[in-house]
Amino acid sequence: MSTNEHRSRWAASLFSALLILLVVATVYVFVSGKYAPPAAITAAGRAIDHQYHLTLAVTAAVFVLSQLGLAFVVFRYQDHGQKVQFSRGNNTLQLLWTSLTAVLFIGLGLLGGKAWATGRMFTLSPDAVRIEVTENQFVFNFRYAGPDGKFGRLDPSQINASLANPLGLDSADPAGNDDIVVPTLTVPVNQEIELLLRSQDVIHSFFVRELRLQQDAVPGLVVPLRFKAEKLGHYEVVCTQLCGLGHSNMHTYLDIVSQANFDAFLKNGGQ
Ligand code: CUA
Repeated sequence: MSTNEHRSRWAASLFSALLILLVVATVYVFVSGKYAPPAAITAAGRAIDHQYHLTLAVTAAVFVLSQLGLAFVVFRYQDHGQKVQFSRGNNTLQLLWTSLTAVLFIGLGLLGGKAWATGRMFTLSPDAVRIEVTENQFVFNFRYAGPDGKFGRLDPSQINASLANPLGLDSADPAGNDDIVVPTLTVPVNQEIELLLRSQDVIHSFFVRELRLQQDAVPGLVVPLRFKAEKLGHYEVVCTQLCGLGHSNMHTYLDIVSQANFDAFLKNGGQ
């Protein structure tokens, strides 16, 4: 065996072994379930999970087969002193795998779009609870319309966090007198909720893992976000857009409570 062949055998064996190790480690991360997210608490969240697992299974099959195939080819065709063969390619094969890839990715994309839409594109029932979410560096504020069911007008010139008016409720609008503004989000269970996302300064985001919902809050826009939670509990809400120095600390909580507790919460002005 020449020195070159000797080197080639080492390089090929090492590279093949590394590829196999990469495949095994990657599959382990997903199959072991050690890094699985907490269970979804909405039907739309489960639809997202279903789609995620389908996409993951398809792409995992492609990944595992192609990496193992690569490991095999690297090992099998190492330098034995054989003559190199030259190929100009094969149009039939090219066409085949290009169209297969296109069908796969467009198909998964369409299914993914459908799963995404189940949580966003539906007709809201008339008794859905509307809550306005306003984000700014680096806090969340949630506004409930109060007993009159109407949000009061906002006047940006009246924004004053230290005088307990972080949203700038217009003192001239009586509809705002009973509005409730609180730093944490409380919603009733099994009830359609519509959040109206706003930002006062830069782009922020609203993310709750258990809802499988993530949405940017963009200055100048009111972005609706809907969900219907099926499980009582205390969950974390985080901002997932890098929005400044305090970003890593920008979070609050979502409390999902019974209808009776929610009614009491509103009656007590958000306590
Ligand atoms: Cu707000 Cu990050």
